[in-house]
Amino acid sequence: MKTLEDYIRVTPDFPKPGIVFRDISTLVADPDGMRLCVSQLAEPYRAAGIDRVAGLEARGFILGAALALELGKGFLPIRKKGKLSGPVIGESYALEYGEAEIEMNDDVLRPGERVLMVDDLLATGGTAEAGINLVERVGAKVVSCAFVVDLLDVGGRARLEGRGMEVFSLLRY
Ligand code: PRP
Ligand code: ADE
Repeated sequence: MKTLEDYIRVTPDFPKPGIVFRDISTLVADPDGMRLCVSQLAEPYRAAGIDRVAGLEARGFILGAALALELGKGFLPIRKKGKLSGPVIGESYALEYGEAEIEMNDDVLRPGERVLMVDDLLATGGTAEAGINLVERVGAKVVSCAFVVDLLDVGGRARLEGRGMEVFSLLRY
């Protein structure tokens, strides 16, 4: 019987020396892996009163959309800058080198909506924090952030918990 961890491809020194890359591509390529992952991610949220699932481009879309379907909720894509049509708001965040920006349509969520933020992996927490800021700017609330992989020593969990956010992850390193 394979565990969730067995489905994830681990590649040392990718995309640069010193990074241990943990890739969910092999997990989502296998229907048993995908089913196991989505059911484990959904479990804490079945009775949590979630209104919407938000996913962070690109890998967060794969799991976020599947999780939204599993929970019977709509999916909100938070995209890299310049990809969304219609009214958007943006948030910049720091990468290891330089800056990036993500955007969200600001006419989808209603004030007070309870949002579950989903991504494949938590490292510094910069991407997730920018997503949380976008949701909060329209008056909705991120009630929890869910990840498959949580790289504890990079600090993202501490960063998000430090601002009072609940963090749920399936695999911690
Ligand atoms: C990766 C990953 C998370 C983010 C985590 O995405 O999918 O979104 O990095 O890092 P952080 O916690 O330090 O912000 P990436 O920006 O590489 O984009 P991709 O999903 O399009 O590959
Ligand atoms: N995004 C940031 N750090 C990562 C890692 N170690 N593996 C996969 N995706 C990442």
